Amino acid sequence: MKSITISAPGKLMLLGEHAVVYNRPCIVTAVGQRMYITISELSEDFMELEAVDVNVVGYKKPLKDIGMGEVPKGAKFVEMAVANFKAKYGIQGGIRITTKSEFSSLFGFGSSSASTVCVLKGLASLTETKMSNKELFSLAYKTVLDVQGKGSGFDVAAAIYGGTLYFVTGGTTIEPILVEKLPLVVGYTGVKADTVSLIKSVAEKAVRYPELIDTFYTQIGKMVDTAHTAFKIQDWKHVGEIMNLDQGVLEALGVGSTRLAALIYAARDAGALGAKLSGAGIGDCMIAFVSSEKKKAVEEAITNAGGQVLDVASNVSGVQVEKSI
Ligand code: PMV
Repeated sequence: MKSITISAPGKLMLLGEHAVVYNRPCIVTAVGQRMYITISELSEDFMELEAVDVNVVGYKKPLKDIGMGEVPKGAKFVEMAVANFKAKYGIQGGIRITTKSEFSSLFGFGSSSASTVCVLKGLASLTETKMSNKELFSLAYKTVLDVQGKGSGFDVAAAIYGGTLYFVTGGTTIEPILVEKLPLVVGYTGVKADTVSLIKSVAEKAVRYPELIDTFYTQIGKMVDTAHTAFKIQDWKHVGEIMNLDQGVLEALGVGSTRLAALIYAARDAGALGAKLSGAGIGDCMIAFVSSEKKKAVEEAITNAGGQVLDVASNVSGVQVEKSI
């Protein structure tokens, strides 16, 4: 019986969140906290799942019922990924899936999209199905939309391609930005952000103020394009300034919070080149770009303001096969 282990990285949004849901670009980096998924063949036609990190233990379902009926919260993305792969390429026999995350799903590093990508890549390898990264992106993005209804797919792209990417909604553009190392500091607020409800709350604002909100999206898109040019020449001071501008518009969209603001201002006051929220907002993480001389001071300031500095590598490699037996 064959068995395969795949890993995929988490992600951090650097610039462009929310606007990227509405056909604007963003910049995202893959972070060195990975999701590991092992898929083994089974003789019976069942899917078995052990995902201890998200409280799924001893979950078992006939493959013919996959994607139907009650699905525990922690199993949703994996099961939908299996259902979508099965519908498109077919699966012979059964499979046992075990997931192991290097990061807490609380940080907002994108464990759902990383596991979706791992499952699809793993099934393709196990069944010797040829699947390009583009095809993998389409099926993984469909899976994420099937489960959560809305999203740009930036997290799926980061899990597949890795590195740092210039990305436009639905993967219409996915362009690597070649940088060696980002001067990134990450602070966790200790509060979980609910991405789906925050997308909804911004969408509701856009119903009340359609033109105003659309102007904000356009402004964010322009900021991302300006920062993209600065990224290419590694002009971090310029990127930092744009991060501060972007934060202002995100505040206007209503996704700032006292907690995020405390960490962001602490980082700026301690000499960061720029600081902003990362992701849906309200909670999860803030990020700062910081020169090496100021790194220690900024990290201390974030900690003193009640944040938890997360020591994560950025710009890391995308989905990969770890082991195949
Ligand atoms: O909370 P996160 O890290 O999944 O980021 C959400 C970013 C949004 O732009 C709000 C949504 C999306 O899918 O692009």
